[in-house]
Amino acid sequence: MEKKPVKITETILRDAHQSLCATRMRISQMLPQLEALDNVGFNALEAWGGATFDTCLRFLGEDPWERLDTLKAHLKKTPIQMLLRGQNLLGYNHYNDDVVRAFVRKASEHGVKVFRIFDALNDITNLRTSIDEALHCKEHPHVQGCLVYTISPFHKNETFVELARQLEKMGCHSICIKDMSGLLKPYVAEDLVKKLKAAVKIPIELHTHYTSGFGSMTYMKAVEAGVDIIDCALAPFANDTSQPCTETMIETFAGTPFDTGLSRKELIPISQHFAKVKADLIKEFNLKGYFDVNPNVLDFQIPGGMLSNLVNQLKDAHMEDKYQDLLDEMPRVRADVGFPPLVTPSSQIVGTMATMNVISGKRYAMVPKEFKDLARGKFGHTPKAIDHDFLTNTLKIKDEEIITDIAKEDAKEKTVAQFREDLVKKGFKNPSDEDVLSFALFPQVALDFFYQRPMVEPPKGIKIVKPAFTQTAGRKGWK
Ligand code: CO
Repeated sequence: MEKKPVKITETILRDAHQSLCATRMRISQMLPQLEALDNVGFNALEAWGGATFDTCLRFLGEDPWERLDTLKAHLKKTPIQMLLRGQNLLGYNHYNDDVVRAFVRKASEHGVKVFRIFDALNDITNLRTSIDEALHCKEHPHVQGCLVYTISPFHKNETFVELARQLEKMGCHSICIKDMSGLLKPYVAEDLVKKLKAAVKIPIELHTHYTSGFGSMTYMKAVEAGVDIIDCALAPFANDTSQPCTETMIETFAGTPFDTGLSRKELIPISQHFAKVKADLIKEFNLKGYFDVNPNVLDFQIPGGMLSNLVNQLKDAHMEDKYQDLLDEMPRVRADVGFPPLVTPSSQIVGTMATMNVISGKRYAMVPKEFKDLARGKFGHTPKAIDHDFLTNTLKIKDEEIITDIAKEDAKEKTVAQFREDLVKKGFKNPSDEDVLSFALFPQVALDFFYQRPMVEPPKGIKIVKPAFTQTAGRKGWK
């Protein structure tokens, strides 16, 4: 058989600790092994995304742009990959095209070499601007378009193949099957990969989570069917709600036509380091750090990263006993709102609605604004049209509030210049482009972070919500 080495993208610096340790890994905990990771020969190192950006500012006292600079300085050979939510960027809103383009350009300048771009609703309108901008960055990053994988009566493998065709036509360099909740079963993966390989010429990458227990089997069938790249996590941060294990995959394909050419032995010291990091994080942030396999994720479909947060939130609220009720309510709410794939931000929006339904005991008695926005089309088209009676009677949305042209809606959002002006009004005379973008994405969190920097005191009357972080990564905290 002809040799067809499978490539591995390593997620230890992003998804792995997001899924198992609430995204709390610091740059200082990555630094000792960056050179070693760079030398392994990975296809890419996933290192940046919405949760990493948010957590840096909110909990770790790290500037996410500086983290990216540090990564770039140490990763000379392996491309840095980021996960971008199309028109949502890394935040929870839709942004003006102007902000989307500025953000993509800055991220590329700071060292992102692979843009993995997705939209929670697989609505191609939401992917156009960011893909276009990434394709035109002067650093020539690799641009990957995603199929956000989900199961519903409105999704078939053919649905995803059609989307892949469109992404290829838009100029994407590769396609990622993004299976954020581990829903992709081995034989379904085989069929999907075969159909994709027949339909598009660009490489196919597969990203899964082990939540339901399919991970390794799914990768094996997908690799046999011709998938080009698989996303894996080093042993200490592998499996559970994270990715299948890098070392296991290397050994699985060793000596076969799919041999990765990577060395498991070379990974031993790296994994030893991260095993200690994991133990430290679990202790410091009082995390659970492990998750039981749960095939019922096929019904509730909560992504790995969110499941770990949800468990911790319920624990904090002393509501662990409501966990199962919540998981049962999720698919019902999802069906009501047109079967969106559940991934940020739709996962949080559906999750919050389901939580409120369970707590109040009366469904849709209180409806958060974001849920109404999802229902009235502010994030794009849902896979199934939402029942009109549900929109108007249950959610009390008026006909004129229903959005049909989302691009027109996005154009009403603030521009970079307007965000800059807002930041100046908050007391920052000459903010950097990076600070303006951080502020655009996470306004209050970014402000609190900026005011903690040395020598910057908030103007009188500006209220600071003190962040939860205690260590400020070498910065002197503002008192
Ligand atoms: Co993931």
